[in-house]
Amino acid sequence: MTRIAIVEGDGIGHEVIPVAQNVLELLHPEYEYFPVDVGYHRWEQTGCPCADRDIAELKTADAILFGAITTPPMKDYQSVVLRLRKALDLYANLRPVKGDGFDIMIVRENTEGLYSGIEEIGADRATTLRVVTRMGTERIVRSAIRLAHQRNGRLTIGHKANVLKSDVLFRDICLAEAKAVGISCNDKFIDALALDILQHPASYDVVVTTNIFGDILSDVASYLVGGLGLVPSANIGDRYALFEPVHGSAPDIAGRNIANPIAALRSAGLLLAYCGDARGSERIEAAVQEVLAVGIKTRDLGGSAGTREFGEAVLRMLRQTNRST
Ligand code: NAD
Ligand code: IPM
Ligand code: MN
Repeated sequence: MTRIAIVEGDGIGHEVIPVAQNVLELLHPEYEYFPVDVGYHRWEQTGCPCADRDIAELKTADAILFGAITTPPMKDYQSVVLRLRKALDLYANLRPVKGDGFDIMIVRENTEGLYSGIEEIGADRATTLRVVTRMGTERIVRSAIRLAHQRNGRLTIGHKANVLKSDVLFRDICLAEAKAVGISCNDKFIDALALDILQHPASYDVVVTTNIFGDILSDVASYLVGGLGLVPSANIGDRYALFEPVHGSAPDIAGRNIANPIAALRSAGLLLAYCGDARGSERIEAAVQEVLAVGIKTRDLGGSAGTREFGEAVLRMLRQTNRST
């Protein structure tokens, strides 16, 4: 039986994940869904945001649906999101940004780079080591190339090799891998890329980049489709997979039923495709599009529907198409 771990996390995770879970339960009542409670709120209650046994439990799932977790900028607090990505070795962070006339897949290296965790902070000086390895780069660029083959076959490498030696290695390995398989490939400095992707989104297909550049680029690119409420992500490794919106816990709007649940719904769609139900994933996307087309929208898109109301409209749409197919 397919087992799905549900992590709401913090903030708007408690609002958008139930919407996505309802849709999964409608499409797959035969799956087992089980909650795992990790997050900043757990740290506040117990001093531990995520225990080893939580990670062990998450590892028993076939896939994880994840909301968002508050990561406060505190010296001694370890981000749960980063811990999970490392513990489950979820090295490929796929962030699709798809709109009218463009279809971009940002492939973010998810385990090293500036997120190496090798750092120290003193009173007057702090350092973070940016680690790029051949193994880490080869596996991410191979994932990107596989995706490019399934799509339009174009790869762009985003880097800052003009300044960073670590990115000289990253760029050169990516270029060599692309050449070896004969895929169409170009490379760009990440700062110029961040502007160009907004100006010419149609000229991009798969973009592969290092950890923090992919983090920033995906928030930037979300502008093309209406903001952070719309962009999902898949964190994939060789054994485990976790699906989450690109956005965070949004404390500024949490608890008000105004968050856009589309990123969470699309993350559930990516989860279904990973679990072998590509049709279910398409049905979620079609239902979201139809609900938007009849003018039901959350506040970030200029509408007045609440998170729950949008979710109910998607469920109604899915039930209708259930009857008519
Ligand atoms: P954020 O993504 O939570 O919010 C940025 C802005 O986008 C806010 O104004 C917010 O209201 C808006 N927004 C985000 N999601 C939205 C949605 N679904 N609908 C409507 N508006 C939405 O980023 P932040 O404010 O920089 O970070 C808040 C917290 O979330 C921090 O603690 C951060 O570390 C954490 N975070 C977690 C994850 C994750 O768990 N994967 C990702 C990003 C940020
Ligand atoms: C994301 C987030 C995380 C990241 C934070 C919360 C650790 O911004 O998933 O995009 O930087 O990767
Ligand atoms: Mn981010």
